[in-house]
Amino acid sequence: MTDQAPAPYAGPKRILSGIQASGALHLGNYLGALKRFVDIQDEKPFIFVADMHAITVWQDPAVLAAQTREIAAAYIAAGLDPKKATIFPQSAVPAHAELAWIFNCVARLGWLDRMTQFKEKSGKHKERSSVGLYTYPVLQAADILLYKATHVPVGEDQKQHLELTRDIAQKFNNDFNAPGFFPVTEPVIEGPATRVMSLRDGSAKMSKSDPSDASRINLMDDADAIANKIRRAKTDPEPLPETLEGLAGRPEAKNLVDIYAALSGQTKDQVIAEFGGKGFGTFKPALAELAVEKMSPIGARMRELMADPAQIDAVLKDGAERARAIADPVVAETKKLVGFLQL
Ligand code: AMP
Ligand code: TRP
Repeated sequence: MTDQAPAPYAGPKRILSGIQASGALHLGNYLGALKRFVDIQDEKPFIFVADMHAITVWQDPAVLAAQTREIAAAYIAAGLDPKKATIFPQSAVPAHAELAWIFNCVARLGWLDRMTQFKEKSGKHKERSSVGLYTYPVLQAADILLYKATHVPVGEDQKQHLELTRDIAQKFNNDFNAPGFFPVTEPVIEGPATRVMSLRDGSAKMSKSDPSDASRINLMDDADAIANKIRRAKTDPEPLPETLEGLAGRPEAKNLVDIYAALSGQTKDQVIAEFGGKGFGTFKPALAELAVEKMSPIGARMRELMADPAQIDAVLKDGAERARAIADPVVAETKKLVGFLQL
């Protein structure tokens, strides 16, 4: 997949992102995704719950519905204002599936064969994986291009899927002689914490699939659980260094400094200026206090929101209507370009 010269795209800037409706959210999702969505919400982003992506692996139907609402509750609890951000479940906008089918016929088998996430998720049992898991990145391209999104904030792990999205946009524009119809979308992978590490092992990513609950701070953890996990986080015996360079080779210490910086809105230099030379006996309680202050209100608000599913559904329904108003004309135009009858 090579980067060709971007086709001229004359449309407006549009930001879009989504999180899959599977498993509980944690501090890595908060700092790598949710908080960044909140930071740019004045630009009116489209932020959806990827429930169609979730079913690429088996989901108990009752649990899927609850998880879809939980992600929506997390968006709102983290500070997204549904008047600014358009918040909706992917499955409520049928055009995602329509465009994904067309893109299935644009993307090449060879492109999908290179996707590392499929290799990781399918493991040794490729032939027993769903076909949906294989074409997962094609649906992701449809999610993005259906809104002609120009910018997509995500964590580092989504980079390859964004490259595929760019290739699909360029091939579609080229094959159907429609230069600049779809934008060549920019991935936005930046900020102090695009890769938050496990609290038990500074070389592993904080992840919902880690069997140890002590490895991550869940958005729904209460104040005691948050403080305990930080107090018990793995560290080395040395005090914090006086300079940032001194964190080299100390992944656990570096991770805690990164988390402190991201949560407090300070630079890492400022954190080191304050805590350099001090031991973890001083730094950990300060970090625990900060994490409790920033995280526990989000969990508390999520619990309140989830106690009233009708209110969440009302937000999602309104968001879906606004999303369809943008998506439907784009898919209609795409079908015309493909040559489907306009009846
Ligand atoms: P996932 O939970 O894998 O569906 O990811 C949802 C969003 O959170 C994506 O934008 C990821 O890149 C981001 N994310 C997941 N884990 C981390 C982490 N440990 N650090 C930073 N960002 C993350
Ligand atoms: N694959 C993304 C994840 O696991 C979720 C996702 C689906 C997404 N469609 C998207 C993210 C479109 C950004 C844009 O995190």
